[in-house]
Amino acid sequence: MLRLRPFGPNDIPAVAAVVKESLRENYPATIYLDIHKWWRDGFMIAELDGQIVGFIAGVNNAPQNARILMLAVQPSHRKRGIGSALMDAFLQQCALRAMRTVELEVRMSNANAINFYKRYGFQIAGTLPKFYTDGEDGYKMMRHL
Ligand SMILES: CC(C)(COP(=O)(O)OP(=O)(O)OC[C@H]1O[C@@H](n2cnc3c(N)ncnc32)[C@H](O)[C@@H]1OP(=O)(O)O)[C@@H](O)C(=O)NCCC(=O)NCCS
Repeated sequence: MLRLRPFGPNDIPAVAAVVKESLRENYPATIYLDIHKWWRDGFMIAELDGQIVGFIAGVNNAPQNARILMLAVQPSHRKRGIGSALMDAFLQQCALRAMRTVELEVRMSNANAINFYKRYGFQIAGTLPKFYTDGEDGYKMMRHL
């Protein structure tokens, strides 16, 4: 059974494993603690039968604006609605906080995620040349609440 719950510091090893496999990034553990401190309700875990299979992490980076920093679901568990469940829960937290806009960045090559975000009403709001450390360009996407 799928369960969404708030992130806690004990989740760091499992979240870091999802980040490594699904986002191909290796962040220091402190980054997760910092995001968590910034906005606790914006960092949510998806658990399937007690196993962490995905998460979403966002911050309230400007007045009435949320920014999604990371969203990932383990490859073996995709296309089953888990990413949507995480996004729905995140948007609900944004509404509770009276956010007016939500923004995010995505690699231009990540057509899968771009489609996913478009389905959620995000639109491309600009391009971000060489945004990623490997030199790839990104899109800034945004939606109103
Ligand atoms: C983007 C991502 C988080 C989506 O997670 P997910 O769990 O696959 O999301 P969902 O299952 O809710 O939706 C994915 C697609 O499957 C479809 N789907 C959902 N449930 C389904 C089901 N039971 N049967 C068939 N299709 C289904 C959805 O309609 C959706 O289609 P769309 O993407 O064309 O809109 C995931 O692909 C991922 O982790 N990608 C790698 C990391 C990444 O790119 N993150 C974003 C970086 S900015």
